[in-house]
Amino acid sequence: MANNLIYSEDPVPHIVIDDLFSEQELFYIKDELQTLYDFSKKSTCVDTYGNTVDSFIDKRKEIWINSFFPDQKDSKIISLFREKVSSENLLDIFNKNTLFSYVNHIFKLSGIVGFYEDGDFIKPHEDYNFFTMNLMLGYSVPENSELYLSNNTFKNPLSKDSIKIKKIDFKPGRLVVFPSKNLHWVDPIKCKSSKLEDLRITIQFWGARS
Ligand SMILES: [Fe+2]
Repeated sequence: MANNLIYSEDPVPHIVIDDLFSEQELFYIKDELQTLYDFSKKSTCVDTYGNTVDSFIDKRKEIWINSFFPDQKDSKIISLFREKVSSENLLDIFNKNTLFSYVNHIFKLSGIVGFYEDGDFIKPHEDYNFFTMNLMLGYSVPENSELYLSNNTFKNPLSKDSIKIKKIDFKPGRLVVFPSKNLHWVDPIKCKSSKLEDLRITIQFWGARS
């Protein structure tokens, strides 16, 4: 595991772990992903009048995993993810950095699975919690599917010259952990088809304070 792990502070403290899910494991969860995709819905948000409208931030299909599996143990994806993240080796690494020391609390929140089809994206945004764990899933690498991390924030915007941006390749099985309050995004992607095999698929968990 350690060989596949990179910790970097450029442009913000973040961890990239390759092959958290092996190719074999990605095939093991494929039927579950297909079911979740079939039940997923276009992302929405609530406007100033309280109406549910298409999301202003992103275009993708998504499903809260707990809405489908109220008991997380019934989900192969969650069980596998929990097993990997709880390995002492990994917890040790997370706990060395205060930013990620709330990793034990991630399962108090539901994860969300996002399915990006052709042209889908997520604009620069912040998440509400302390850090974001983004596990890349899927069976191919669509064009333009990289995740962008920035040192900029909405709260304390930097001058143009001091903004740094890092592009992290989308790679099925790869976990990226980064601070939620730094802007991050995905540009519109290009997919060969709308089959599960050609989508950009991710599952997000957020680190909460207890
Ligand atoms: Fe996010």
